[in-house]
Amino acid sequence: MIARAEKPEDISRIYQINIETFSTDAEANLVDMLREHKVPLISWVAEDKGELIGHILFSPVTLVGQMSRISMAGLGPMAVRPSHQKKGVGTMLVEAGLKQCLKEGYSAVVVLGYPEYYPRFGFVPSVAYGIDSTYDVPPEVFMVKELKKGALKGIQGTVSYHGLFNDV
Ligand SMILES: CC(C)(COP(=O)(O)OP(=O)(O)OC[C@H]1O[C@@H](n2cnc3c(N)ncnc32)[C@H](O)[C@@H]1OP(=O)(O)O)[C@@H](O)C(=O)NCCC(=O)NCCS
Repeated sequence: MIARAEKPEDISRIYQINIETFSTDAEANLVDMLREHKVPLISWVAEDKGELIGHILFSPVTLVGQMSRISMAGLGPMAVRPSHQKKGVGTMLVEAGLKQCLKEGYSAVVVLGYPEYYPRFGFVPSVAYGIDSTYDVPPEVFMVKELKKGALKGIQGTVSYHGLFNDV
């Protein structure tokens, strides 16, 4: 099983994986729309014996109310085919994706997700840093992880995703 960057020929399969994994087509459409809008994405797949079984996406986010610039990415959506969940596919995708984010110059990554899952990768509630999001969610579900040590020191503000996320 490997994690690798998306190729053009993966696009329709990625769409299907998102449809199969989520209860609506919102995530699948979001991934396609972000791609069509030329948003610089980190879009990786998990492949097992030539078959795609999972997908993870990172897109740039902005920190409103922050004077100094910090380069942050947002993790999500992420989907592992229901038949392949709880076998380490998600872990592989998150770890590979975070490495790629660092490679591409991001200093930190945020995620809106399960508070039982993401802390194992070093995510902590963003409120610990004085960072919140435009989403009205309990504080423990919006998390952040420094990729570069000390990157979030003195950083505060509200994280805003690309406008296309508003439709999800
Ligand atoms: C969440 C998800 C990406 C995890 O991928 P995965 O390949 O199943 O995860 P892994 O095998 O690496 O890790 C399994 C762990 O994740 C936990 N996990 C999976 N789904 C979870 C959920 N909905 N809530 C909390 N924990 C969850 C499992 O309990 C397991 O924990 P354990 O290691 O303590 O037993 C996958 O379950 C999925 O696609 N879910 C549906 C879509 C979704 O919710 N995506 C994330 C939000 S964008």
